[in-house]
Amino acid sequence: MKKLFAMLLALAMILSLAACGGSTAPAATQAPAATEAPKAEAPAATEAPAAGGNLVGVAMPTKDLQRWNQDGENMKKQLEAAGYTVDLQYAANDIATQVSQVENMIANGCEVLVIASIDGEALGTVLDQAKAAGIPVIAYDRLIMNSDAVSYYATFDNWKVGVKQGEYIVEALDLANAGDKKFNIEYITGDPGDNNINFFFDGAISVLKPYIDAGTLVCPSGQTEKQAVATANWATDAAQARFETILGTYYADGTNLDVVLASNDSTALGVANALESSYTGTYPVLTGQDCDIASVKNMLADKQSMSVFKDTRTLAAKTVEMVDALMKGTEPPINDTKTYDNGTGIIPSYLCEPVVGTKDNVQELLIDSGYYTQDQLNG
Ligand code: BGC
Repeated sequence: MKKLFAMLLALAMILSLAACGGSTAPAATQAPAATEAPKAEAPAATEAPAAGGNLVGVAMPTKDLQRWNQDGENMKKQLEAAGYTVDLQYAANDIATQVSQVENMIANGCEVLVIASIDGEALGTVLDQAKAAGIPVIAYDRLIMNSDAVSYYATFDNWKVGVKQGEYIVEALDLANAGDKKFNIEYITGDPGDNNINFFFDGAISVLKPYIDAGTLVCPSGQTEKQAVATANWATDAAQARFETILGTYYADGTNLDVVLASNDSTALGVANALESSYTGTYPVLTGQDCDIASVKNMLADKQSMSVFKDTRTLAAKTVEMVDALMKGTEPPINDTKTYDNGTGIIPSYLCEPVVGTKDNVQELLIDSGYYTQDQLNG
């Protein structure tokens, strides 16, 4: 297998050198982590950086959401600082595009693949190609399901993200001392093809369940199942549309909405927009995740209660350590060998720590740490 891989690699390098003249700069230049996520996506990878050893493929889902721009940029910067050449691609949330980008990465001689999948179930055959060529695959942030080509998983503790959202709600509404009081809750989570929603949603529900069972938390829309509260592509527009319908149907008579469990910021933003357009009651507790700029601004304006900060610099740094170890034939860092079964067995993982963000710790968490500048949060 090693011999075959070496031959394939040599062939790929020859082809790539012939195609690129051996000296072209990386083709994949992406916009820097921006305050607003740029809309235009790079086309499917047709050109790739010149191979010459040390080539790492980084496949990101989309530029539409702020965090993936940051993830991609952080990873590229840190991998380059460690001496690697990076083929960074964004797939406009289109599965076929991501598949062809990964195919090109393999053909162009990438020696390690880092993939944040659009749909964790949809990459099957292209990953078989990677495996056949002996190329290790690191699932980035989102677990790639049902493929034994996945070697490692680098992510945040996704269950803990949900638990922190649930705990915030318990505290904000003082549910432990609720007595006979009842609170109206609605739920929203993300893309059904993203395995993370199982951890975010189930983690939060694990904390809220005693209060749901006791009848303290009541859901007037009756939309409580994960599939019913999912949001395709985590899209803000879809979140807004669903909540406008919910608010118009179940809350137009003056019923108060006390709390919304939103799994992340892009969906929380849609909920906040819907509240603005279609609700006049007391503003609910609203959770989120990522500390996206729009949501931090909403927190500062009391339109979102909390977010969960996942420092993408830390995740990138851990992933770079993994890549480096794989390239050098040493052991990648892992701190979890029991949580993430992708259907083919447990994938050894490194879980970074998520932290609760509120308007009270924005300064320390996001500005003093250099994640954002004050300017980015103004206005
Ligand atoms: C990530 C979240 C992100 C969501 C939407 C999830 O897989 O873990 O941080 O908000 O995707 O992009």
